[in-house]
Amino acid sequence: MTVSPPSPPRDSVPDESLGAGAGTWTSRTTRARIASGSLRLDAWWVGPATTAVVLIAFVAYSSWRAFENAYYYAPPYISPFYSPCLATNCVPGSDLGTVVGDWWKLSPALLILIFPLGFRLTCYYYRKAYYRSFWLSPPACAVAEPHRRYTGETRFPLILQNVHRWFFYIGLIFNVILTWDAILGFRNPQGQWGHMGLGTLVLLANAALLWAYSLSCHSCRHAIGGRLTHFSRHPLRYRAWTLVSQLNGYHARFAWISLFGVALADLYVRSVASGAISDLRFF
Ligand code: FES
Repeated sequence: MTVSPPSPPRDSVPDESLGAGAGTWTSRTTRARIASGSLRLDAWWVGPATTAVVLIAFVAYSSWRAFENAYYYAPPYISPFYSPCLATNCVPGSDLGTVVGDWWKLSPALLILIFPLGFRLTCYYYRKAYYRSFWLSPPACAVAEPHRRYTGETRFPLILQNVHRWFFYIGLIFNVILTWDAILGFRNPQGQWGHMGLGTLVLLANAALLWAYSLSCHSCRHAIGGRLTHFSRHPLRYRAWTLVSQLNGYHARFAWISLFGVALADLYVRSVASGAISDLRFF
């Protein structure tokens, strides 16, 4: 009988035969060191730079719109940035019940923005995107990062990213409300049903993209199929998990498209509400 010698402990000492030194070995407590800034020859910075520009543009636009407190309701359409409108100072006809009351004097969008914002901010995909673009941690694969230490998301404040699953559940409520808003788009400005305009399609597309984004979420995948020991005993959940897993492969795409979708839906409603354009009515 042949007995194999025990394997040497992994990552324990640098292997001199490999040209030891910075960049050739790692341990469990230190990160790989790359002597040069990057060994990559392609334009690796285009991705992080584009991400930063788009995210800054979205944050600037959405903040401006949230504080503008105007042009968010063009019957029968309401901007997704202001829905649900919950304060007494909502434009007449736009509110979903004035549960907040009249003590709130600021823009009603500020009451709700934290939820979709928190959902995106803690999204696993966006985390990767903005860690790379803004923290350069790391800027890209095989590109050295400027930070000396790496603690991941094990400490405050980044450990708070774990609230993502709760934002996911709240996001589902928002999706239901925004879907209802799109259904209300089948009325005319006088409130009669059986009508449709371009705005109806815009709000429907926005709702569909938000559902695609939410259902492809990693937390959704875990909620449906996580912590199951035997898929064979849960055939329905297994089937749902399989479908969600397929969607999950497109999560980054849905994240970006739905981001543009929500901004464009708001822009459309604003343009109609401000009189810049007229809603194209189909019937
Ligand atoms: S992981 Fe992106 S929304 Fe949940």
